[in-house]
Parts: sequence; C-alpha cells; structure tokens
Amino acid sequence: ALDISKLRDLTGYITLDSGYKNTGCTKSAITFLDGEKGILKYRGYPIEQLAEKSSFIEVAYLLIYGELPTQTQLNEFEELLKEHSDVPEQLKTILLAFPPEGHPMGKLCSVIASLSAFYPESLKPNASESEQNLTLVKLLAKLPSIVAYIQRHTLSHSYVASDNNLDYVTNFMNMAFGGHAGSTKVDPVVIDAMNKLLILHADHEQNCSTSTVRIVGSSDCNLYASVAAGVAALWGPLHGGANQAVIEMLEKIKNDGGDTAKWVAKAKDKNDPFRLMGFGHRVYKNFDPRAKIIKKACDDILNKLGIKDPVLEIAKHLEEAALNDPYFAERKLYPNVDFYSGIIYRALGFPTEMFTVLFALGRLPGWIAQWKEMRENKEPIGRPRQVYVGEVDRTFVDIKNR
Ligand code: ACO
Repeated sequence: ALDISKLRDLTGYITLDSGYKNTGCTKSAITFLDGEKGILKYRGYPIEQLAEKSSFIEVAYLLIYGELPTQTQLNEFEELLKEHSDVPEQLKTILLAFPPEGHPMGKLCSVIASLSAFYPESLKPNASESEQNLTLVKLLAKLPSIVAYIQRHTLSHSYVASDNNLDYVTNFMNMAFGGHAGSTKVDPVVIDAMNKLLILHADHEQNCSTSTVRIVGSSDCNLYASVAAGVAALWGPLHGGANQAVIEMLEKIKNDGGDTAKWVAKAKDKNDPFRLMGFGHRVYKNFDPRAKIIKKACDDILNKLGIKDPVLEIAKHLEEAALNDPYFAERKLYPNVDFYSGIIYRALGFPTEMFTVLFALGRLPGWIAQWKEMRENKEPIGRPRQVYVGEVDRTFVDIKNR
C-alpha cells in the first residue's frame, strides 16, 4: 500500500488540479471571460460589438498591441502584412512532399514550425523590439497563404499567388478558391462571414492551445515553434478539432434517419464513449456567447447564399433535444463555438478536414498576443509539479532473475 507520509517526504506539499480546472497560471490583460454570465471581451471590448463592427485585422491589431488602431495605424499594419504575405518557394515544395490526402492539420503544424528555419532571426534570444515585431508580422502575414496552399494541395489544385490589391480576408479567400472554374467565393457576404468567424475565434484566454503556446514559449522557444505546438493542441476533437467532429456527427445522424433523441440518449449513456460534439465547455456554464452569434450568422449566411443544408435542421433539433434534457441542464452543457461554425464553413465551400485549420487561422492573433505578453512580462519557465504515486524503493534485478 502507498505510504503517504513517505511521499510527502519526497515531494513536499503540492496542489493537485488535474486539467488545471481551477488553477490560474498567469495574469493577463488580453481577454476577459465570465463563464457564468456568458461574457467575452477582448481588451475590454465586448465580442458582440467586435463581431458586428470590426474587421479581423483590426481585432488582430487590438489583441496584439492592446488598442484599437487609428485609420493610419490600420492602413500601415495592412500594408506591412501585404508586404510579407508571400511564402518562400521551398516552403511550397515542402507541402508538395506531403501526400495530398494527409490531414491538413499535420501539414499546418510542420509548415509553421519550419518558418523558424526560413527566418533564423526569429531564434535570436535578444532580438530588438522591431525585430520581434517583424517575426510576428511575418507569421500573421503568411498564414493565409499557407492555409490556402494547404487546402489547394489537399484538393490537388495548383497554387494561386497572394494579391496585394486585396484585403487580408479577401486575399485569403481568393487564394483558397480563386483560379478554378465555378468559383464565385469572393462575394461580400462571404467575406463578411469569414471576418465574423475569424474574430469569434481570435482569442479565448488560457485554453488548451493558448496555454500550450505560452508554456512552450516560456522556455524561450521561438514564436514559430511555440505556435506550431499550439496548432497540435488545437487539433484534438475535445478542443478545435470539435468543428470537424461536429459536421461528421451531424452527417452520421442524418444518414441514420435523423432521430436526434436517439443520439442524445447515446450521449447520456455512460457505457458509450460518444459525446455530443460541439456541446459543453470548461468555462461557459450558462451559454457560449460566440455560439449565439454564430447560430444567427449561420441562418443569415445560408439564407443570403440561398443554401439549404439539411444538416442545419439536424443541428437545431439536436440542440433543442439536448437543451430540454435534464442530463445536459444539470451539467450545464450548451452548444459551444464549434456547434454551428462547421455549417458555415461548409456553406462557404471548405472541405471538412480544413475546418480546424480555419480555427487556427482565426486563433493566430490570440496566440501571438499571449506569447508576446508572456515574454514582455518575463514570466518564468512553465514547469508544473506532480504527485508521485509510483513505486518508492526498489533494488535493480538482473534481467536473468526477473
Ligand atoms: N456530451 C455528453 N456529456 C458531456 C459532454 C458532451 N459533449 N461534455 C461533458 N459531458 C459530461 C461529462 O460526461 C461529465 O459527466 P459526469 O459529471 O456525469 O461524469 C460532465 O458533463 C462534465 O464533463 P467534463 O468532461 O468533466 O468537463 P470538462 O470541462 O473536462 O470538458 C469539454 C469540457 C472537453 C469541452 C467537454 O464538454 C467535451 O468533451 N465536449 C465535446 C467536445 C467539444 O465540443 N469540444 C470543443 C470545446 S470548445 C473549444 O475548445 C473551442
């Protein structure tokens, strides 16, 4: 049996909080979140106002530099991003070396980490403020090209070059969808929808991927490798990967005859590993304000584009069935940001496997802002402790005697 007093001798006293459910790891001035009241603010501005009135790049500037830009600052920032939007030719070749059918998130992780090889100045431990700024600008500027090229590579389409006459989001959509027959994707309705989605994903305080970026960065690791680690954390279906998993679940329900009550029952069954994807959140215990905005945007966009997606009806029925069920009410489980986002991405023409990559495109300003804040605050290296529960005292046994 475990002798606790002996363990204390070995470890001292340690707070054990698996999953960091109630442990703050930093002070941050970027994003405010009240999970009980369903409030989300970036730098003090309510998410509802930003989603309604702002552009993604304006929000990126706000998150990274702390203030809304003046028109001149915004113009200069946009010009700087355009100047750096191209990616090196060798980087395009790296993508071509992957099997097209490989998962886009695997490609994204590798390509972002490889930027540190293309831009070795990002490794400089004592880079000046302007050098550090250029490193982050390059990442923000190049990610739309990288994401669009990953999509085109996955679909075996040739690349479309970045066009400096277009704004950030329009340029991205043009690179992702332009240049092949039948593309009408650069429609103002589509651009507006993309801006909204990217803004809603732009930061969310110390979630799994963001805290990964911070902890990797805390070892003085460069921004590109830190963000690549964040992309890996985002990939899991309990985090950003949920947007792909939601659509796959809704399709399955549709093909199974659309009986949402049956799937709600399955999600409640503790002997069944199935969970309702896009439901529940570690912090929101009332509603996810992003989900409210996205649900409305989803209806608007599908109407404006004249698209009828049977999966949207399934999603609405599923939400209603779950919300009227005591299991979900007792556990305070509500739709999260990912429940309706995939339906919009699909309406805009993105392949399902690209959904989490799009989440990463949106989350990038948050990851950058959090990495920068952590460095500016000179936070110590992240190094959690553990409570050791293994064997304590053993003597080596030679292999022939085991
Ligand atoms: N379906 C069914 N039951 C659920 C669900 C769900 N989606 N989510 C939580 N529960 C249940 C759990 O089984 C548990 O029940 P119990 O108390 O009877 O054991 C209870 O609700 C609490 O759940 P935890 O897993 O302890 O909550 P946690 O805060 O650790 O997890 C998470 C949060 C991961 C988001 C969880 O709700 C989940 O798996 N949701 C589905 C995946 C998803 O949509 N992820 C995206 C989150 S948003 C984002 O990252 C962008």
